[in-house]
Amino acid sequence: MAKVLVTGGTGYIGSHTVVELQNEGFEVIIIDNLSNSNIDVLNGIEKITGVRPAFENIDCVDYVSMDKMFEKYNDIDAIIHFAASKAVGESVEKPLLYYRNNLVSLINMLQLMPIHKVKNFVFSSSCTVYGQPDILPVTESAPIKPALSPYGNTKQIGEEIIRDTIHANPSAYNSIILRYFNPIGAHPSAEIGELPNGVPNNLLPFVTQTAIGIRKQLSVFGDDYNTPDGSCIRDYIHVVDLAKAHVIAVKRMIEEKNSSNVEIFNLGTGRGLSVLEILRTFEKVNNLKLPYKIVGRREGDIEKVWADPTYANEVLGWKATETVEETLRSAWAWEQNLAKRSKEE
Ligand code: UFG
Repeated sequence: MAKVLVTGGTGYIGSHTVVELQNEGFEVIIIDNLSNSNIDVLNGIEKITGVRPAFENIDCVDYVSMDKMFEKYNDIDAIIHFAASKAVGESVEKPLLYYRNNLVSLINMLQLMPIHKVKNFVFSSSCTVYGQPDILPVTESAPIKPALSPYGNTKQIGEEIIRDTIHANPSAYNSIILRYFNPIGAHPSAEIGELPNGVPNNLLPFVTQTAIGIRKQLSVFGDDYNTPDGSCIRDYIHVVDLAKAHVIAVKRMIEEKNSSNVEIFNLGTGRGLSVLEILRTFEKVNNLKLPYKIVGRREGDIEKVWADPTYANEVLGWKATETVEETLRSAWAWEQNLAKRSKEE
């Protein structure tokens, strides 16, 4: 059974990916410092898959502990590196925290891989590297625009660190860089989902928390953009669809089917939806009314971006298949399950 190390495996995308890996028969080792996630996520993963993954509470910034971990779990076949800080606003206030967490952890990983003879590496990148693209839908060959936040910059620099490292030592590594668009929704079991600490920054957790009454009202950031209804457009993708792409990426490298040792793929649906379309669809499919008001623009927001996922569709044989309706139902089911759980406690 192939072994996969998943850093940040108790996080939102990480936990959904662990489920898909275990469903496909992979043995998973999670490392996470629980800085933005909860150990209870392991219970959810076990409920869904029947398997509790190995877990180590380790910070990827800690080289010595990482080295020991690689010694303990030898014969790792691939790494999926999710662990990173991801709040755009916080990164503007605490840039060094972001550069340290996101870049030192990546450097540690790339240094330790050849020492422990681990070759295959999947890196979580983001459509944020494109900034506001000139041409939509955006393909992987679109130019990288200056980052609008330290967070975005860590993803750009992260990609460069990987490229330079592999260029210097090509026989030691294979990597697949995945540029995520906007993951939303939750596992259909509602056992795992997105659980941000404190007030959510992202749209969907704010929507579901407003619907359940934790937040009074949702603010829509701007209705004067150059889009059909004036609100921003994103490519929202079901997190389970996104998770499945990671399993395919891992298999591709283990089976040596990759065509170069640095491959880059957009992971999106190819469909752009506005904030207001998301709100209306959420209300309709879940049969509820969402209190919201239009406020001013949020600094640093991109007006519109959606993916051209053709390259991933053709080369990986992967395609996002969930409808936005089903995705928004799953997000609401997860929020309701969370509320039920906290009542029971
Ligand atoms: N939005 C609102 N109200 C809210 C929250 C969001 O109107 O309360 C709008 C935003 O203005 C934007 C859309 O909803 O138009 C999506 O916003 P998100 O914050 O959910 O996501 P972003 O598209 O801003 O994504 C960015 C980066 C990602 C990064 C993510 C992490 O592009 O790379 O933030 O927070 F991963």
